Amino acid sequence: MKALFVGLGYIGLPTATIVAKKGIEVIGVDTNADLVAQINSENFQTSEYQLQDMLAEVVRNKKLIAKTTPEEADVFFIVVPTPINQENKPDISIVKEAIESIIPFLKSGDLIIIESTVSQSTTNSMANLIFNKRPDLNDSVFISYCPERVLPGNIIYELENNDRVVGGINKESASRAKEFYRKFVKGSIHETDSRTAELCKLTENAYRDVQIAFANELSIIANKSNVDIWELIDLANKHPRINILNPGCGVGGHCIAVDPWFLISDFPEHTQLILTARERNLDKTKWCLNQIKYEIELFRSKHDRYPIIACMGIAYKENSDDTRESPAKLIANELTLNSQCEVLTCEPNLTQDDILELSNLDDVSKKADLILWLVAHDEFVDFNQSAEIKEIDFCGLRLKSK
Ligand SMILES: NC(=O)c1ccc[n+]([C@@H]2O[C@H](COP(=O)([O-])OP(=O)(O)OC[C@H]3O[C@@H](n4cnc5c(N)ncnc54)[C@H](O)[C@@H]3O)[C@@H](O)[C@H]2O)c1
Repeated sequence: MKALFVGLGYIGLPTATIVAKKGIEVIGVDTNADLVAQINSENFQTSEYQLQDMLAEVVRNKKLIAKTTPEEADVFFIVVPTPINQENKPDISIVKEAIESIIPFLKSGDLIIIESTVSQSTTNSMANLIFNKRPDLNDSVFISYCPERVLPGNIIYELENNDRVVGGINKESASRAKEFYRKFVKGSIHETDSRTAELCKLTENAYRDVQIAFANELSIIANKSNVDIWELIDLANKHPRINILNPGCGVGGHCIAVDPWFLISDFPEHTQLILTARERNLDKTKWCLNQIKYEIELFRSKHDRYPIIACMGIAYKENSDDTRESPAKLIANELTLNSQCEVLTCEPNLTQDDILELSNLDDVSKKADLILWLVAHDEFVDFNQSAEIKEIDFCGLRLKSK
């Protein structure tokens, strides 16, 4: 059996690696030729726990080979990006391109699994695309949608241990997909139809977005009423049926900050709550920037100069190097570009960033006048600064330090 993965990013590469580790022959396809070369030469660098060694092993054993174009296989995974455009509308053109790229190689009996997050009914429309171009395959290839719900930083563990939902365009497609996932998933695998599976993924991320919006809104209420938000949440969570999440400086990442727009776009008249949550989370970043600007002015009126600011963390979540849609990076970038201050950006999980120059913890402790805790990375927990240095904790770092 041969499995072919189209898209070797955050999700496709670890999944391909685990499948190869189970002894299945894997071809990984990515249009990024540099990435393909790095994988094949065992030079791929990642901070994703366990991935680097596991990948090097399967590449060395020739169980996983990366290529820039597809070829024949028995199981095809589509794991390409599904961004939103400027108007917050989902763009599934890359999924379509990826499907078109495999159509010439499909044969009767093949299984196609879409893992990219998509709008409802995309799997059915991709099935129509395949059957229109290859009527010979009608009813003889199996097509399923199986969303991914892993936590970056713990992907290898979660890929094997999380429950999975597999939704087929028909029952046989769902059961073939389940049979394949069984080869590497220890969690339960739940069969359904593709439209339910598509909606399930969007539901999970919209739910998280709404919950975080509540915490973010609450953090503003607490600030206005001079109450410590972290103590407030801790006390409220002592109630047996309450579990308020941590607020932050917004919501980032490739999923929670993006996927609710798929629902808003498809059901504009029925997503007021989801839309408001999305807007509240975006507003929280602006609110943090206003807080920072207020502190800058306060410092300036007291010292007759602008403070040196340290932006601590630019990843979208703690202990990650992923800066996609990161509100912390947005804040650091905005201050760097548009404030009069010298800005030190510190991200211990990255050696470099595409737009921001990075400083280390030593620079921060020597130079900073105002410290902004944007992401609660473990590396920051023991950071000691003199008592007169002002800090603003947007992420609950000091709670972690206690
Ligand atoms: N990152 C996450 O935590 C996460 C979690 C769950 C679901 N998802 C979903 O999984 C999908 C993939 O996300 P990701 O984070 O792995 O994306 P990514 O951007 O990290 O990787 C996608 C890869 O696909 C490649 N690619 C683009 N077009 C291609 C094509 N036509 N043929 C071959 N390769 C192509 C890109 O070069 C890139 O390497 C998205 O739909 C995303 O929403 C992501």
